[in-house]
Amino acid sequence: MRILALETSCDDTCAAVADESGRILANVISSQQAHERFGGVVPEIASRHHLELVNLVVARALQETDTSMDEIDLVAATQGPGLVGALLVGLSTGKALAAARGLPFAAIDHLQGHVAANFLAGEAGAPATPFEPPFVCLIASGGHTLLALVRDHDGYELLGQTLDDAAGEAFDKGARMLGLGYPGGAALERLARGGDARAFVFPGSSGDRARGGRGPGRRRFAEGLDFSFAGLKTALLYKLRELGEEEARERAADLAASYQAAIVDNLLQRAERALQRTGLTRLAVGGGVAANGELRARVAGLAATVHVPERALCTDNAAMIASAARFAPVLAHPDYLALDAYASGERVP
Ligand code: KG4
Ligand code: ZN
Repeated sequence: MRILALETSCDDTCAAVADESGRILANVISSQQAHERFGGVVPEIASRHHLELVNLVVARALQETDTSMDEIDLVAATQGPGLVGALLVGLSTGKALAAARGLPFAAIDHLQGHVAANFLAGEAGAPATPFEPPFVCLIASGGHTLLALVRDHDGYELLGQTLDDAAGEAFDKGARMLGLGYPGGAALERLARGGDARAFVFPGSSGDRARGGRGPGRRRFAEGLDFSFAGLKTALLYKLRELGEEEARERAADLAASYQAAIVDNLLQRAERALQRTGLTRLAVGGGVAANGELRARVAGLAATVHVPERALCTDNAAMIASAARFAPVLAHPDYLALDAYASGERVP
């Protein structure tokens, strides 16, 4: 069986072909550069670029595997959450491609896609064998940060999530304050390489916890499985003001390293706690922030069996959507034609 999948929930236009065993045959990603000068993704521009790119990306994925549409058995696309205008391009294209050939269609949740990146196996960067449930999954991306209990291939139970900013958003906002471009996660990581992670103590970092955190209310939150990154971002802003422009510039690498360490500490602490509370010893990680070298190195050091997909399968891609489609409800033609995209929250049937 061959699955053609599309992913257009944010600013990457993606198409992939995979088979029923989770082997990736093609994984094409076109990242939009147009948003850089605005310092963030502009939804309307993202939709327009998806429209221009989507057919090319699909054609390229088919061409790379020498597959014609006649050999496709199932079409899948991300239904949500994400930017509605952006999602609609991939969802409508997927439905149209399926409908034109009377093929079945699977509508996929983007976060389930990040989880399902761990079920890919075989060639094209995926491991030889898939990572099998049950496991705890930490998803940290530009739009979401959550801990999931994954018992089966077709869903998860939410253990905790961010109450404000996502981890990737914290990276992006920190990078912006440090004068780096957008998206800033990878740039901040590069800057941090030359810095001392213990130079500054930011909220939620291990250094902060060692000195007792702040206040009883904060402690109660800190013992749960939810995340919060807004305070961290504000702490960096205040630190930059306190240092003044010149010193902040001189110590940019230390600031980046300490800030990155605080984000990673926050993620790790709760992931470890989720493992303890569920009694599981298997952890998977996904989402764009899982491309971060510091996070990858630190999770590898946990006393658990850890699986982190290769970087191109952590950031947004359609191979993970194809992977999820293997376990998702499939709609026969024409039952899927009225499906709509959803921006946030739960899937609308
Ligand atoms: O999963 P993703 O590609 O898109 C969303 O679904 O949001 O995640 C994008 C996020 C951005 O915030 C980006 O800055 C962050 O992932 N990111 C990183 C790195 N590479 C991407 N954050 C830290 N270190 C990186 N190397
Ligand atoms: Zn994502």
